[in-house]
Amino acid sequence: MKTMRALLALSALLLLLGTLGCQPTQTVVPQATSPVKKTYADVIIGYAQLGAESEWRAANTTSIKETADQLGIELHFLDAQQNQDKQIEAVRKLIVQKVDLIGISPIVETGWSEVFQEAKNAGIPIILVDRRAAVQEDLYVSYLGSDFLEEGRNAARVMADLTGGKAQIVELVGTINSAPANDRYRGFREILADYPEMEIIASETGDFTRARGREVMEKFLNEHGSEITAVYAHNDDMALGAITAIEEHGLKPGVDIKIISIDAARGAFEAMIAGKLNAAIECNPLLGPQFFELALKVINGETVPKWVPSEEGIFFPFDAAEILPTRKY
Ligand code: AHR
Repeated sequence: MKTMRALLALSALLLLLGTLGCQPTQTVVPQATSPVKKTYADVIIGYAQLGAESEWRAANTTSIKETADQLGIELHFLDAQQNQDKQIEAVRKLIVQKVDLIGISPIVETGWSEVFQEAKNAGIPIILVDRRAAVQEDLYVSYLGSDFLEEGRNAARVMADLTGGKAQIVELVGTINSAPANDRYRGFREILADYPEMEIIASETGDFTRARGREVMEKFLNEHGSEITAVYAHNDDMALGAITAIEEHGLKPGVDIKIISIDAARGAFEAMIAGKLNAAIECNPLLGPQFFELALKVINGETVPKWVPSEEGIFFPFDAAEILPTRKY
């Protein structure tokens, strides 16, 4: 009975308020509005870098760190020091730190499924930067980086021009089982198939470092001597190491032995200006701005392409001096 009276009193009050033009407090019904977009200041991005093996890698790391600074992003950057176990560990650390997204340049192509699945289970998207990983497509949102296969093809095309389609080539291969080494190896051979007088007489890894490039080139020269007419190096650092070895052997790099490398970093331009390197196929390390732009889109639920390719050129000695001052790495 009491409840009945209370309800009647409440309806009378509501009626009175209505006639007086007053609105009683309303229940707020949530409206279907678009969610508030996050900005760079709201996000934490993790980055698992593979190491610091080359001039290219140094430029890549600087680009990631400097861009994060400029955009005011909280960046958790971990360096795996050329070790896959450490890089897997780095991804796990970033998962524990609950970052919003993880960028990674996988040191080698295989062995990533388990840890990428862990990130997916934790709701953390992964962007592959610079290097691909051989995993199911649902384990990463996008790959931002170069077409390594085309770089290998371009190296062979340029080598064919340079040598008139006749060469005894030694090859300095990048880190075994890494995406750039696999693709640069394959792309080069694809084109060489059309040139029966271009032969690869030796091929060995120099692990993308200058020291190993020099060591392996010394070995090639001791084993093959003047038979060698050309060097194909999967990166600039190994080419620069090879140049030292060729000079120590009493030969003229770029003249007695033609040399082509991939990256087109500052060291390659200096070598071209000195007449010691015959061409550099570009591989762009300045991926910071594109990476963070892509990351923010992913975090905000926007659809992004599965592959964002880098734009790259080919450089030769004739205008290297003019171009060098415009290069950023
Ligand atoms: O993944 C890109 C490659 O890695 C670069 O060509 C090389 O210099 C680096 O170490």
